[in-house]
Amino acid sequence: MQKLRNAPAWGELDALAPLIKRHHMRDLFEKDKERAEKYTLNAAGIMLDYSKNRVTQEVLDKLFELARQREVKQKIIDMFSGQPINSTEKRAVLHIALRNFSDKPVYVDGENVMPDVINTLKSVQVFTEKVHSGEHKGYTGKAIDTVVSIGIGGSFLGPKIVTETLKPYWVKGLKIYFVANVDGCHIQDVLNQVDAETTLFVMSSKSFSTQETLQNTLTAKAWFLDQGPTQKDIAKHFVAVSSNVKAAVDFGMAKENVFPMADWVGGRYSLWSAIGLPISLAVGYNNFKGLLEGAYEMDCHFQDAPFEKNMPIILAMLGVWYRNFIGAQSHALLPYYHYLRGFPAYVQQLDMESNGKSTTLDGRTVDYGTGPIIWGSEGTNGQHSFYQLIHQSNMPIPVDFLFPLKVPNQNETHHNMLASNCFGQAQALMQGKTFEECLEDLSDSSLPEAEKLKLAAHKTMPGNHPSNMLLFDEMDPKTLGALIALYEHKVLVQGCIWGLNSFDQWGVELGKVLGNDVYDMIEGDMSLDNVDASTAQLIKHFVNKQ
Ligand code: F6P
Repeated sequence: MQKLRNAPAWGELDALAPLIKRHHMRDLFEKDKERAEKYTLNAAGIMLDYSKNRVTQEVLDKLFELARQREVKQKIIDMFSGQPINSTEKRAVLHIALRNFSDKPVYVDGENVMPDVINTLKSVQVFTEKVHSGEHKGYTGKAIDTVVSIGIGGSFLGPKIVTETLKPYWVKGLKIYFVANVDGCHIQDVLNQVDAETTLFVMSSKSFSTQETLQNTLTAKAWFLDQGPTQKDIAKHFVAVSSNVKAAVDFGMAKENVFPMADWVGGRYSLWSAIGLPISLAVGYNNFKGLLEGAYEMDCHFQDAPFEKNMPIILAMLGVWYRNFIGAQSHALLPYYHYLRGFPAYVQQLDMESNGKSTTLDGRTVDYGTGPIIWGSEGTNGQHSFYQLIHQSNMPIPVDFLFPLKVPNQNETHHNMLASNCFGQAQALMQGKTFEECLEDLSDSSLPEAEKLKLAAHKTMPGNHPSNMLLFDEMDPKTLGALIALYEHKVLVQGCIWGLNSFDQWGVELGKVLGNDVYDMIEGDMSLDNVDASTAQLIKHFVNKQ
């Protein structure tokens, strides 16, 4: 494929950027009374208002042209048809098969993967129902009432954020904990709160080789055996999800307790697979299925809608505009829903592990910006903290507001206040407040004129800060599935524009390898001779303090 900078639309967008920088969104709204309506669309239970963006129709047209020139359509077809688009690992990328509710087969190397997908889903359903009905009992005959999910990265963030977001749907009486970090405080903290007789540990690791997950499971197992049960009771309390069934069995998991996953499911795209078992246990299988159905609806929209009406493509191309032409380095996610507060952390892995790269598919180093820093936290808390920087620093930071129109057990006053804050912030970011308006506010003050001018300068809000507003009728399993799929597809499209492989993660490997060596040095099994002076000093200092 030609270099990104050689795509004709790239040059045209580059030429448009300085012109747009001179426009204020206030004027765009002033000029076009239909702007809000024109730049709003609905898909899979999500309404997206993208009118508060620093774009004109001409910019949008060029962005869609760029998407065509970068063959986004073909990338979508390739992913959905099981082509090995994860080229460095020579794998298909088929999380979409896990939520394929059509009767169409999905082939990998000539084999339809759907029968295995359906079987695994069935086994998740059967196991969930056995736990909920009390048929699956703990070693003393008591029903399971607690789940501890152990995993990290994609084997943690997806199940955790979904479970957290769907708290209003939790099965009554069931408690669930997630342990990821190898920091022993975390697992210990959880173990202090649970009862061995009624706790089920779900160990999730696609590779079954992740240090944190293996160690946390060993610690959980040792703790479990310390409480009285014997080795034969392990099978009642420990299950695993992995694509490496052999390693799981070698580790001591009963074969019938290992839920398989395919190697074409990427870790950060895996919550739809058996990695979603903790979700199913927490909210019930039907709600888990609802999540998959919502994602499927977004998948259909993504495949079928023209670019101009395609939600993932619109979000992706707006992101490209800000990253490559307006100079944004980061993108903030601002959920105005307490239960969705973990969403920025989830998208952080999804986006930054996928597109935080600078080598193109054909091995060249990029000469343009790629995946932005993803950050953010729940509104309104953030308003009293980092929003200051979004409003008044000179960094362009596009944001996505996320807001459910209805929430469970709605307290009208609270919810109206939450809505007014969310919409009010988007408005303030867009319109700002001019120096003249600020000076006018000070007209009655007794301050000397020079002080008024100075203060007005401090109070001036430039505005013109872009935002997307995503509204949901309610944050039910289906809508959450669609929302997650929306961001997954956004990442695919951006990776395609930037010419990246969004599905590998080589950047995390070196730290793991060196960390293992450092561990051996701490344990005294490896000499410090070949390590740099700073690391050697840190290790010695640590060892001396033990
Ligand atoms: O360290 C990154 C990573 O490889 C992620 O991509 C993955 O989700 C996570 O580790 C956990 O991997 P596993 O599921 O194999 O334990």
